[in-house]
Amino acid sequence: MGWSEKDIPSQHGKRVIVTGTGGLGFQAARALTAKGADVVLAGRNPDKGTKALARIRAITPDAKITFERLDLASLASVSAFAGRMSDDGRPLDLLINNAGVAIVPKRQETQDGFELQIGTNHIGHFALTMRLMPLLLKARAPRVVSLSSNMHKRGTINFDDLQLARKYSPAGAYGQSKLATLMFALELDTQMKQQGLPVISAAAHPGIARTDLMNNGPAGQPVLQAVSHLIERIVGQSAAEGALPLLRAATDPAVRGGEYFGPAGCTEAKGAPELVQASPKAKDAAARRRLWQVSVRLTGTEMPIPA
Ligand SMILES: NC(=O)c1ccc[n+]([C@@H]2O[C@H](COP(=O)([O-])OP(=O)(O)OC[C@H]3O[C@@H](n4cnc5c(N)ncnc54)[C@H](OP(=O)(O)O)[C@@H]3O)[C@@H](O)[C@H]2O)c1
Repeated sequence: MGWSEKDIPSQHGKRVIVTGTGGLGFQAARALTAKGADVVLAGRNPDKGTKALARIRAITPDAKITFERLDLASLASVSAFAGRMSDDGRPLDLLINNAGVAIVPKRQETQDGFELQIGTNHIGHFALTMRLMPLLLKARAPRVVSLSSNMHKRGTINFDDLQLARKYSPAGAYGQSKLATLMFALELDTQMKQQGLPVISAAAHPGIARTDLMNNGPAGQPVLQAVSHLIERIVGQSAAEGALPLLRAATDPAVRGGEYFGPAGCTEAKGAPELVQASPKAKDAAARRRLWQVSVRLTGTEMPIPA
């Protein structure tokens, strides 16, 4: 039998932030509150957040969960959110960098002028992680989990045109953003270990999971959406199953940092969560350091030096 939600150890006493109120973020929050975690579900749409909380409370009536507004496509919103989270100074045990957009048909920009997919999926989460680092460093065994995708294997980091202003393709932009997410997760873990700091960083991908991802990103593209939903139905898995790799990365006591979990089935589309391979591009240490430096420059955030 593969790893399942039953294997999640007690999360009582843990403070968790999950980005993204729908799909996998919802499932992660549901599973973690059921195990006693105190969860902040962070998203850009308060109506969706309120509905997600009601659904979770219907399953776990004493769930410790709140909604907080966070728009990852705005560095000001990321900064304001992190400021609110830091108000009471409570340690943060687990940050799940999950929210994302995919296959946006025409090039769009975040509030700060970044291409929308890398801006939301990577740059927003980079800034969020840096801003929450002081709270993570206060926790006993802090973890950061970042959501990548099988599509990272088709991605390339276009250092000469990171915002894809010269040449944009919806899948190319998504692949770049998810490669960046995985490189960030691995580089964060490397830097923590080099500095002797306790935060461990791991990554996960859900395979093909039936969520709203292909309704949200390619809005107004009915043919693409119909094909995606067909593929999801034929070779994919439920959102709850798709959340298992991230839940394993987040809670398995055997995780030491630097792991990448995904479904164990054929082509990693579905199945129980196991360790999977990051692409050679994701493991390129020099490229990871370069992306880190670019991200520091673009966000104006960097790793805080612990007191
Ligand atoms: N489903 C899959 O097959 C699949 C495959 C590979 C990787 N992934 C990754 O899994 C993660 C979760 O996606 P999902 O499948 O659960 O899709 P989803 O159902 O569309 O959920 C994505 C969530 O991200 C939120 N979000 C998007 N932009 C945001 C922003 N600027 N600020 C804050 N929140 C924002 C969405 O908010 P709204 O509800 O307001 O739109 C939504 O709650 C993503 O990183 C995705 O790339 C998914």
